[in-house]
Order: sequence, then structure tokens, then C-alpha cells
Amino acid sequence: MSATRSQPVPLSRIGVVGGGFMGAGIAESAAVAGIGVDLVDVDDSALARSRERIEASLAKAVARGKLDDAEAVLARIDFAAGLDGLGRAELVIEAVPEVAELKRDVFAAISARVDEEVVIASNTSSIPIAELAGATSNPDRVCGLHFFSPVPVMKLVEVVVALDTSEATEAQAYALAAQMGKQPIRTKDRSGFVVNMLLIPYLMAAIRMLEEGFASREDIDTGMRLGCGHPMGPLTLCDMIGLDVLYAVGTSLFDEFKRDEYAPPPLLKRMLAANRLGRKSGRGFYEYEPAPAG
Ligand code: 3HC
Repeated sequence: MSATRSQPVPLSRIGVVGGGFMGAGIAESAAVAGIGVDLVDVDDSALARSRERIEASLAKAVARGKLDDAEAVLARIDFAAGLDGLGRAELVIEAVPEVAELKRDVFAAISARVDEEVVIASNTSSIPIAELAGATSNPDRVCGLHFFSPVPVMKLVEVVVALDTSEATEAQAYALAAQMGKQPIRTKDRSGFVVNMLLIPYLMAAIRMLEEGFASREDIDTGMRLGCGHPMGPLTLCDMIGLDVLYAVGTSLFDEFKRDEYAPPPLLKRMLAANRLGRKSGRGFYEYEPAPAG
């Protein structure tokens, strides 16, 4: 069963590299859809945190009446330390931290461990897919699969088609998104893709509004929730995304297009310096209960 033929068949097993907030969510969504998952991370403590995240989210899904059997879903996920755990995967999704050099190294290492035709996708929101493809033996099987947080809830996946991505790879990415119950949209390989190119200027504008003392954090958020029907206000959303991720995406967009609307404001930079990373560090624009590390 080739993973890259032009009429892709449903996959029975994927690999997910990196079990942080996004990687755990991707693994969970795949397993909920009946797909086996090899979830790999650097060591056992990272994997334990990942398992905890997935267990907590599955428990929430059961409590909300979205899922019957959390145990059966969890049993579809094999947690393994190190990339050798990827041997059986028919497609691999990389979701390690947003650091270009790290991602390139991980792509080269995945490419050395899986068959030539296995699609390798990145969940990056800011690093060019072409750059990651260049680290592999066969760039035409590389694409982006950009999920949105929280992954188990958000329906969208951006399929990022890079210069060398083949039609078969794109078809496989679309098929996997559909198999996971997600709605794929196609985007070119340029910084921000479709959604962040629209979302980031809005979030940066909210931060600048707060920085200038124009309105309080609560009023900015209430304004967009009740005035525009958004499920959460922009500053709450920044905290959920993670201010370090937001900074990386804004910087990447600014580097690419040199337009001020993408540039992270000084307040965002100072908040990173103060380790106010949002929900994950317990403090961002708001204060939170301490979250599990990693
Ligand atoms: N598994 C399955 N379903 C779940 C779930 C879980 N773990 N947790 C919640 N749900 C379901 C609920 O059952 C409910 O479904 P329903 O509408 O059919 O009843 C729905 O999700 C909402 O759940 P809750 O009522 O518990 O939660 P809230 O109403 O507080 O909503 C939220 C939480 C979904 C996060 C909502 O606030 C939201 O949509 N916020 C915006 C998120 C967003 O914009 N994400 C994109 C970020 S940008 C990004 O990721 C790109 C990156 O590159 C920067």
C-alpha cells in the first residue's frame, strides 16, 4: 500500500514527532479517527507529559459527550522515545518546537528512517516547507499540514504545497485531513499561509492597543467577543496560542513581507523576556493555574 499514489487509500498508522501541545493534539485527533499513532519525543518524561495532555483532553471529550471510549483511543497511540519508533508509519507529521535548525535536523533524521515514498509533513506555522524539504532525500513527498489549536476541537487543516511537493503528496495530505474529520484548505508555501496572514495583524493590533493604554485587556477582549461574536477575545487567544509562538510567527511574516502590521510590538518582546508566555507558563496577558511543564 503506497502512501503517495494519486488515489490515496485510508492510512492505518501515522507517526507524530513531538508530543507538545500541538503534537499531542494531532496524535489524539488521529487516534479518535481510528488511526494508529506512533508518538515519538525525546525522552520518557516528555512522553509522560504528552500522555497526560491526551488523557486530560480525552476525559474532557467524554464529559462533553463527544467520545465514548477514551481507553480505546489511548490504546491506539504508542509512545516511544527516539525516532526509531517511526518504522511502521505510513505518513509522518513533525510537530517539534518552532526552531528552523531543529526542524531541519528532525526532517533529515525522519527521512533516513522511513521509506522514500512516505509523506513527511510539518505542522510549522512559520518556517518555509521548501527549507525542510531540502533536508530530505526526496523533497516531492514533503508538504505542510498546519493544524490549529486546540487541535481536537478546531476543524481546519492548511495543506501547504511547496515548490517541489508532488500532486500525490498533496492528495495524500488531503485524504488524511478528511480521514481525521478535518476540513483541508490549500495554501502556498509563504509565511503565514492563509489564516495567520489574516490573524496575526489583528492580534498584533490588539497588543498595540493595550500597550498604548487605549483600552483595558478585559474591554479589548469583551469588545471582540460580544461585538463580533468571536469565541474568545484577542488577548485571551494570544495567551492560548503562546506568546513565544506568536512572536515567532509575527517575526517570520515581517521578515517575509516587511509590512509593519506583522511586526511584534515591544510589549510582546518584553513579555517573552519576563517568561510570560501565556497559558503554558501560568502568565501572559492574564494569570492562569500553573500548567504541566513542556
Ligand atoms: N475533545 C473534543 N471536543 C471538545 C473538547 C475535546 N477535548 N473540548 C471541547 N470540545 C468541544 C465541546 O464539546 C464543544 O462542542 P459543541 O460546540 O459541539 O458543544 C466545543 O468543543 C467548545 O467547547 P467548550 O464549550 O468546552 O469550550 P469553549 O466554549 O470554552 O471553547 C475554544 C473553547 C474551542 C478554544 C473556543 O474558545 C475557540 O474556538 N477559541 C478560538 C480558538 C482559535 O481561534 N484557535 C486558532 C488559534 S491560531 C492557531 O492555532 C495557528 C497557530 O499557527 C498560531
